[in-house]
Amino acid sequence: MAKSILKLNAISPLADGIFKDYEYSDSCADPCGIMVRSAAMADYNVNGSLIAVARAGAGTNNIPVAGYAEKAIVVFNTPGANANAVKELVICELFLGGRKITDAIDWVKTIKGEGDAVGKLVEKGKGKFVGHEIAGKTLGVIGLGAIGVAVANSAYALGMNVIGTDPYLSTGNALHLSPYVKVVASREEVYKEADFITVHVPLNADTKAMINDGTISLMKDGVVIINNSRGELADSNAIITALKSGKVGRYITDFPSADLIGVENCICVPHLGASTPEAEDNCAVMAANQLVDYIENGNIKNSVNYPAISLPRGSAGRLSILHKNVANLIANFTTAISAKGLNISNMASTSKGDYAASILEVDGTVTDSLVNDISAIGGVLRVRSL
Ligand code: MLT
Repeated sequence: MAKSILKLNAISPLADGIFKDYEYSDSCADPCGIMVRSAAMADYNVNGSLIAVARAGAGTNNIPVAGYAEKAIVVFNTPGANANAVKELVICELFLGGRKITDAIDWVKTIKGEGDAVGKLVEKGKGKFVGHEIAGKTLGVIGLGAIGVAVANSAYALGMNVIGTDPYLSTGNALHLSPYVKVVASREEVYKEADFITVHVPLNADTKAMINDGTISLMKDGVVIINNSRGELADSNAIITALKSGKVGRYITDFPSADLIGVENCICVPHLGASTPEAEDNCAVMAANQLVDYIENGNIKNSVNYPAISLPRGSAGRLSILHKNVANLIANFTTAISAKGLNISNMASTSKGDYAASILEVDGTVTDSLVNDISAIGGVLRVRSL
């Protein structure tokens, strides 16, 4: 297999050292792996050499994840690697939501030419920009992944009451969540109780346009909504209508769209959540390490379309197999291995939805003939000898 990795976007140079044994560039042909940030991959021409894509970021909506699963291309993301950067922006936006800081700064620019009168004009004009403190208000966090948990904990530390919800809350994230954050069962409970709402969920069929006329009607009057996850999570028309009526006090988003720009009480930030060198370094290193571990060892960590799997390296022969999650496949693998007179020394197999991954180690050499025999088993998508 060609050891080449294609960069589809600028990636932190910290990844360079991790790919020191690979051709790593923005132009290599027939890559076995791809490093990507925001490049849209729907039309990317996949050929047989590609086995994995690593997104240096959390969202993977620029990658055809389901189609790649069927083609045995493992898609990774880097949950948590940019969490602190996004959290800091959200904390800033909580203050922007409570106080009319952006409007006030814009207004100050209009009195630049007033000379010695500026001081008096400031004192006279500032009344229009009075705002609220965030302490004592209730923040609702929808999505308690790495970012949501970090936001919840910091907002609590700033004196907010914090509630959160996540049907997929992992044990790891639950352990990091402050015990003072109240976890509720549904988004509806958050909509009803919160003065500020921040969303930290992936864009999918369940979450698309989850902020809409109906859900906004459940919210408190004057609620501040913060969306740093994906623009499509909110129905822009519903947001604009609610901003005009005052039902929503402010909408702050990292995903501007033409209809939102310039709407009063809508603050559009140009997708700056993860735009810090620290986050870019963290994402690049995590993505590159995950890619190399899969290419070289078949181990999978933080994939969005295949299950996590890991097996320490032991014996001489090692097989990585991606396959459908159907009955009897493992028995067929072991039969094929036994037929070659090989002993299985260690193995792991995991599944997630329709797909599964197995790693089998054997005492002896994995021949092309064995790889071909296993590849021919129905439901097997990719077999590699590592
Ligand atoms: C993410 O998905 O990680 C953030 O939106 C930042 C980014 O797109 O890089």
